[in-house]
Amino acid sequence: MLRVEGLFTGYPNEQGEIVRAAQDVTFTVPEGKLFTLLGPSGCGKTTTLRSIAGLERPRLGEIAVKERVVYSSGRASFVQPNRRGFGMVFQSYAIWPHMNVFQNAAFPLEVGDKKYSRQQIRDKVMRVLTAGSSSSRSPIARRPSSRAAAAAPRARAGL
Ligand SMILES: Nc1ncnc2c1ncn2[C@@H]1O[C@H](COP(=O)(O)OP(=O)(O)OP(=O)(O)O)[C@@H](O)[C@H]1O
Ligand SMILES: [Mg+2]
Repeated sequence: MLRVEGLFTGYPNEQGEIVRAAQDVTFTVPEGKLFTLLGPSGCGKTTTLRSIAGLERPRLGEIAVKERVVYSSGRASFVQPNRRGFGMVFQSYAIWPHMNVFQNAAFPLEVGDKKYSRQQIRDKVMRVLTAGSSSSRSPIARRPSSRAAAAAPRARAGL
């Protein structure tokens, strides 16, 4: 179960004032369920996802996964992104262009909280690389389709 409660996020503008992004966001997602955030451009969908992953520090609220609180303004707690165990496909893919597909997907497993052997990492990555997608050894090209082909396995390899 993922629980997001009373999340408020904002970004400072050039004058240092806080521009509001996602405001008072509350929802829960039961384990194993798909959940969609739907709304107009700029309403705060990406900001909410980034807050759950730990890539943004919200101003207020609480986020918990399986009863483990990963962010709480009230308790002043913030778990670093690499200690949260999430996968994420970024809106702009954000894959590393100097790594091939395999290296991109393997990287979170190399730096994450859980320690894996080289063979375990290999098995996990190869499991999520779909047949017919770009070769695991191919360098990342600039084409969006090949960046997407690396982004999804990277998000799923650790699951
Ligand atoms: N790094 C940033 N610095 C300043 N403002 C930002 C930043 N990222 C997002 N914002 C602002 O926060 C608000 C929410 O943006 P967000 O990207 O979460 O929207 P979204 O719902 O994902 O939109 P889209 O459907 O276009 O992807 C917008 O007003 C946006 O301009
Ligand atoms: Mg977005």
